[in-house]
Amino acid sequence: MTDPAAEPSALENLLSEDRRFPPAPEFVAQANAHRDLYAWAAADRVGFWADQARELITWQTPFTQTLDWSNAPFATWFADGTLNACDNAVDRHVRAGHGDRVALYFEGEPGDTRTITYADLQREVSRAANALQALGVTTGDRVALYMPLIPEAVVAMLACARIGAPHSVVFGGFSAEALHSRILDAEAKLVVTADGGYRRGNPTSLKPAVDEALAKGAPTVEHVLVVRRTGQPVDWTEGRDVWWHEAVAAASDEHTPVPVPAEHPLFILYTSGTTGKPKGVLHTTGGYLTQCAYTHLNVFDLKPDTDVYWCTADIGWVTGHSYVVYGPLVNGATQVIYEGTPDTPDRGRWWDVVAKYRVSILYTAPTAIRTCMKWGDDIPAARDLSSLRVLGSVGEPINPEAWTWYRRVIGGDRTPVVDTWWQTETGAIMISPLPGVTEAKPGSAQVPLPGVAAEVVDDDGTPVPNGSGGYLVITEPWPAMLRGIWGDPDRYVDTYWSRFKHLYFAGDGAKKDEDGDIWLLGRVDDVMNVSGHRLSTTEIESALVSHPWVAEAAVVGASDETTGQAVVAFVILRGDSEGLTRTPAEVEAELRAHVATQIGPIAKPRQILVVPELPKTRSGKIMRRLLRDVAEHRAVGDATTLADQSVMDLIAAGLSSPASAAD
Ligand code: WTA
Repeated sequence: MTDPAAEPSALENLLSEDRRFPPAPEFVAQANAHRDLYAWAAADRVGFWADQARELITWQTPFTQTLDWSNAPFATWFADGTLNACDNAVDRHVRAGHGDRVALYFEGEPGDTRTITYADLQREVSRAANALQALGVTTGDRVALYMPLIPEAVVAMLACARIGAPHSVVFGGFSAEALHSRILDAEAKLVVTADGGYRRGNPTSLKPAVDEALAKGAPTVEHVLVVRRTGQPVDWTEGRDVWWHEAVAAASDEHTPVPVPAEHPLFILYTSGTTGKPKGVLHTTGGYLTQCAYTHLNVFDLKPDTDVYWCTADIGWVTGHSYVVYGPLVNGATQVIYEGTPDTPDRGRWWDVVAKYRVSILYTAPTAIRTCMKWGDDIPAARDLSSLRVLGSVGEPINPEAWTWYRRVIGGDRTPVVDTWWQTETGAIMISPLPGVTEAKPGSAQVPLPGVAAEVVDDDGTPVPNGSGGYLVITEPWPAMLRGIWGDPDRYVDTYWSRFKHLYFAGDGAKKDEDGDIWLLGRVDDVMNVSGHRLSTTEIESALVSHPWVAEAAVVGASDETTGQAVVAFVILRGDSEGLTRTPAEVEAELRAHVATQIGPIAKPRQILVVPELPKTRSGKIMRRLLRDVAEHRAVGDATTLADQSVMDLIAAGLSSPASAAD
């Protein structure tokens, strides 16, 4: 691990971004969030969370305890309260008279649609919960989900929550092997899947991977519940496999949610760590729901009566858990879920969805924003996006160019943009501007939310002064924090609580600017050390993307005999750019010079490779590990989580005669 704090001068590029976007007075006047939230939380942080929990969540038994941190780093929140997550997300809205409100507008990739009200959702989850119980699932049993983004996926998660059976959603893009190891680790009793889903205009299959995973041996699995989505033929194991449309349709649409203690496990979600074995991040019920609801309400300024909210994440990722399922539904929001890819049948699909449903809040990832930038302004410009009023970003640092493009082209120069930092482990948003309160700085997640205590520290765990870089840590427990790693408490302590005493180490490098606002610099293992100078991959990527020729860039630190590490950049040129008419050597020279002027000669990439695509996971994260393999002329490692397996071949083909211009 490198120390991002040692060379603050190398990080000035991001911080020289001086555009400011104060909240518009009309927005301030109607905003949910107010500046006094900060004072309220600062005066009594734990009491503040208790107030949020009472206000936003319906408890079966009210809690009297708030935080218990006596067994740190194992926390309990609201431990003597009982509640049911599905009751909070569905039934209580029907009881409050909102049964006719739309919960889900489903847009299938082929163009099929479904509109599901809260009353419909209550009947569906009740049927599904009854069906799950009929299959032998009881409170505490684990259920694995391997599904496309269709309403049944949301229903299945909620049905598990309704009976207190923790779900473990495995992203549909993972292999049978990955699914198998996750089923084994969680000892799942049931697998819920579908025959397949639609992606890029074609049916993709899921059931065969479940069959393959179970054929490897999974003694705890008793049944597989299968949704028919595409109608493609599937193999069938009699006695084990059950059709959703038969079991669920036959079940009663009345079901009483099972109240569970606040610390009852709600779900396990596997995420990759630095070792090969994925970690089963464990979240519990009361604290998690409280922070999901609170952040969703304030960070997106949700007005449940009038907003149409759309988060583009898949339910296979934490963003899909917290900001497709639990946050929005607990708040009684109306939302869109879309099954497919942004370019099916054409590159305007997302903007067609926004226009069709009059989406007012959009939450997506920087990589998607940069892809849309690459496709050109004319595509969104041809659609009516006037319904949008808040835009959010998550998953990776958003470079100022993408941030300002998002606001200008998608947000009509009108909408706040919130850059939200958080992790699978944190469960909910931790650092973000508040719309209507914060003066926004493009590229910065800015401030811990009221109730969250974050710091940037040096190698010894001492807070750095403003203007300096270091490691991002969380200094106080928070309600949605992970409660551990499934089956491996030691790994929880080692991974997150050992680097710094009493501090949660997030694994990200960050810097505080002169105002104390936080700028995320990427994972610390993505911070490079070149000739003793610390450079951030993000910073150089940001510099490259600020060149008019460049649509996307990924930077890795490749080991170098002379300099320790050397900067190697992979860039995609814009479709209409002059760069396409130049030779690779000319492009490389131009961009190296550009980085030198943006940051300094030290940051000049040793090598810049023009590539047609970048290797990304389905969640849109660039797989820098694979690029490092290419940069270091190694055989490319495990690429099974790539969204598009052919990308590495394209890159390799384009690199058969790489130009190198080190000077
Ligand atoms: C990165 C996704 C910069 C960060 C919710 C973190 C971000 C990791 C941001 C967690 C952001 C997420 N700015 N970096 N706004 N949001 N990250 O677990 O490196 O898939 O540690 O959770 O994504 O990724 P995860």
